[in-house]
Amino acid sequence: MQYERKYAWSVLLRLYHWAFALSITVLVVTGFYIHFPWTNTWLENTGEFPVAMMRYLHFIAGFVFLAALLARLYLLIFGNSQERISDFAPVTPRNLKSLAGTIKNYLYVSKGHEERLGHNVLAGTAYIITFIAAAVQIISGFYMLYPENVLIQSIGLSVTGPQQHARFIHYLLMWYFMLFALIHVYMSVWNDIVTGEGIISSIFNGHKFMRSR
Ligand code: HEM
Ligand code: HEM
Repeated sequence: MQYERKYAWSVLLRLYHWAFALSITVLVVTGFYIHFPWTNTWLENTGEFPVAMMRYLHFIAGFVFLAALLARLYLLIFGNSQERISDFAPVTPRNLKSLAGTIKNYLYVSKGHEERLGHNVLAGTAYIITFIAAAVQIISGFYMLYPENVLIQSIGLSVTGPQQHARFIHYLLMWYFMLFALIHVYMSVWNDIVTGEGIISSIFNGHKFMRSR
């Protein structure tokens, strides 16, 4: 079978992907610790401030996470044709058909699905949900961090309600990100093994392999 090497992901998309993935890893680990500081009793009277350190790392990663999401929002509108939201949002007839095809393929009801240079629409839909979850995580996080800022407070109040609700939503969404990362890495490896697209290397070098027609 003949394959052609095609350019799929811009440098900005790849940089955003790894900034997003690495910051989420730091945010989940430090967030887990802020929620349940399990070493507290061991470190009492030692002069260590683990919660303060974890919070500090959490906030630095929080700003990286914000920058990554802003870069992605820019690419949703101004990126190349694979990166724009119109390529993978499940709203056009072509994308809806493609979504149904991928679901059938994953359920082993049909063999194969539409080959795309960009994301398949099922993955794209999961990514759109993840961007929305990320925006809520940022709003609730900054609301907890800067409650005295009138603009942040009014956005936080209208999106999550009182601060305790914001904290609870923020905590629940951490589980969403953990679940997403687990399924996402599994699906990426599965795709890399089953198809010849070279999907994993594409998120490093920007190129995918497509069957020549
Ligand atoms: C994927 C992204 C994120 C995850 C998984 C995450 C996770 C968490 C978790 C689990 C907590 C503990 C909540 C609790 O007490 O039950 C927390 C607290 C917090 N997070 Fe995040 N977070 C994320 C993004 C952010 C962002 C973008 C900011 C903004 C700077 C932020 C700011 C905060 C603040 C201010 C707290 C409260 C700290 C405290 O009470 O001492 N987080 N986060
Ligand atoms: C070893 C770790 C990882 C690998 C190998 C990996 C690989 C990939 C690949 C191959 C794609 C493109 C897939 C496609 O075309 O649908 C992708 C996209 C994506 N990944 Fe990852 N990923 C990793 C970790 C993560 C983590 C931890 C997150 C966040 C929790 C994440 C979030 C995303 C998102 C949101 C996209 C969509 C990119 C876009 O906005 O267009 N990835 N990843």
